[in-house]
Amino acid sequence: MTPRLLSGLTMALLCVACGQQDGNRFASEVVIEGDAVPVSLSGEPGDAMRGQSVFASREEGHCVLCHRVDGLDAEFQGNVGPALTGIGGRLTAGQIRYRIIDAQQIWPDTVMPSYYRTSGLRQVGHAYEGKPTLSAQQIEDLVAYLSSQTP
Ligand code: HEC
Repeated sequence: MTPRLLSGLTMALLCVACGQQDGNRFASEVVIEGDAVPVSLSGEPGDAMRGQSVFASREEGHCVLCHRVDGLDAEFQGNVGPALTGIGGRLTAGQIRYRIIDAQQIWPDTVMPSYYRTSGLRQVGHAYEGKPTLSAQQIEDLVAYLSSQTP
């Protein structure tokens, strides 16, 4: 194989990878910068109060299945994942957004579902089978809620 052909092939392979990086695995176009998704998915700011209910509600995100936020009024709060108390002081809104939409890209072995991913999903167990992913606005509401959790 000539070096030129080889480099052509390498470029083609890289482009498959960069297609992934471009966010083609999501429900809408997502731009990833480093470990963050800096731009709102819905083009609208999130609402922290709505985000709190998405976080706690069994019908929506139900993040409390695995996470606790001190001071949150919810019947049950889990500890499979880290407590998210003060998370807004540790992560930027863009970093929080990326972790919600595609935790499995950041931590390949995580039990946390990728909430905005539509392809390449791996099943995480019966509890999550067939669960709808969250909408762009629900994710923005969660980002607003968690960003408001400062120490
Ligand atoms: C099945 C359990 C589970 C569910 C449900 C879950 N998470 Fe997680 N989450 C985790 C785990 C575990 C981690 C830590 C990453 C790891 O090491 O796997 C994590 C990490 C995070 C982090 C990063 C925390 C940090 O300190 O870096 C954020 C933010 C987060 N989750 C938000 C959410 C939100 C919002 C929801 C609901 C939409 C949610 N999680 C649902 C298990 C879960």
